[in-house]
Amino acid sequence: MPKAMPANILVLNGPNLNMLGLREPAVYGHETLADVNAAIQARADELGAEVECRQSNHEGELVTWIQQARGEKTAIIINAGAYSHTSIAIPDALRAAEVPVYEVHLSNIYQRESFRHHSYISDLATGVICGLGLDGYLYALNSAAKLSD
Ligand code: DQA
Repeated sequence: MPKAMPANILVLNGPNLNMLGLREPAVYGHETLADVNAAIQARADELGAEVECRQSNHEGELVTWIQQARGEKTAIIINAGAYSHTSIAIPDALRAAEVPVYEVHLSNIYQRESFRHHSYISDLATGVICGLGLDGYLYALNSAAKLSD
């Protein structure tokens, strides 16, 4: 059997996720994005996986990073924030990247306003995790790292 590529995972956070910790803590928790990224990096180190964490408030920048993942990354973990419910360009880029995708939401989007119940990313994702806060990223990372075992 050919040796699998070592896990090299891109973690993307979309608009307003740079405001974690300050933004609606009752919904999103008290941890900052730096805390989230530190927990992801620590778990990646335990798993022996490479991880790159990026955040942007701009749809086009997220699209560019997703395109660049093609042939380079073994998985993408994405919390596209509100773009999950509105963007066609992000799922188009994810399909074009041909990389397994994990969709994460900190909150349980199904307990919230009806406009959050649909995500354009979910049907192309390998897995979707919502409502588990920061742990959602770590569960996604555990699974994504196994793809490369
Ligand atoms: C979110 C849920 C989205 O509906 C919202 O727009 C966000 C964050 C979450 O992580 O729960 O920005 O993706």
